[in-house]
Amino acid sequence: MEQSATANQISIRPYRDGDRAAVRAIAFATGFMGDRVDWLWGDAESFADLFTRYYTDREPGSLLIAERAESVVGYLSGSVDSTRSAGTAGREINRMVLRGALVRPSIAAFFWRSIADLVRDRGAPEDVLQDARWPAHLHINLLPEGRGLGLGRQLMEEWFRRLRQLDSSGVHLGTFAENTRALRFFESCGFARHGAPILAPGFRTREGGRMHLQWMVRSLRQTNGVETGAALPATTGD
Ligand SMILES: CC(C)(COP(=O)(O)OP(=O)(O)OC[C@H]1O[C@@H](n2cnc3c(N)ncnc32)[C@H](O)[C@@H]1OP(=O)(O)O)[C@@H](O)C(=O)NCCC(=O)NCCS
Repeated sequence: MEQSATANQISIRPYRDGDRAAVRAIAFATGFMGDRVDWLWGDAESFADLFTRYYTDREPGSLLIAERAESVVGYLSGSVDSTRSAGTAGREINRMVLRGALVRPSIAAFFWRSIADLVRDRGAPEDVLQDARWPAHLHINLLPEGRGLGLGRQLMEEWFRRLRQLDSSGVHLGTFAENTRALRFFESCGFARHGAPILAPGFRTREGGRMHLQWMVRSLRQTNGVETGAALPATTGD
């Protein structure tokens, strides 16, 4: 009995330097809508560089760690001011191309497909939403053994608490429109969809279809005492 109580013990805490490898491994293990991404992008290090390096190395104070039975099972990586991190993805990709991504067997197919998509789509979405109404952003990833226990909700609440302390007006995130479980989770956390899904270069469903980025936003300001993402007209473009 006592053993299973320990096994189910969950907590969240601030990021520490020693968590870097775990965060990078979790990003890769959950990189395809919660599943492993290795069938699409076969190199763990470059994938982790793209999705976590800014947060672990440049803004670690905005990283939160989720633990189950004292083992790291997930994280929320955030940025208070997305203008600071804007362009990070492009810079990481340029760095990978200079280091031979276009000929490295584990990722070459992804990169060549992305280039074809970029030409066909005439551009790619930005890596963050640059809108003063939602200046902060986040990514959240839990290993399967950390899901459905309330950790996602706790990480979100802690991130919102920190942002409110900093008087942030709001927060956004980008998720795959195909990740319907995540969309439902984010909606249950007060996010609303912002704009139409946008084609995401390089990524494919297991059936080979194109994938789409969906921006979601949440206000941290109160309207008539109620704080809700839907309280602001998200798509009016004002
Ligand atoms: C999406 C994710 C962060 C949710 O975290 P979680 O810890 O599993 O969610 P929680 O247990 O905290 O649930 C929080 C709330 O969301 C709801 N919820 C969670 N998963 C849900 C789902 N799949 N469908 C509908 N609602 C869901 C819960 O009912 C709960 O509501 P409640 O607090 O009113 O009871 C987590 O499952 C995950 O990391 N998935 C894989 C990676 C991923 O898809 N990340 C997001 C892409 S950017």
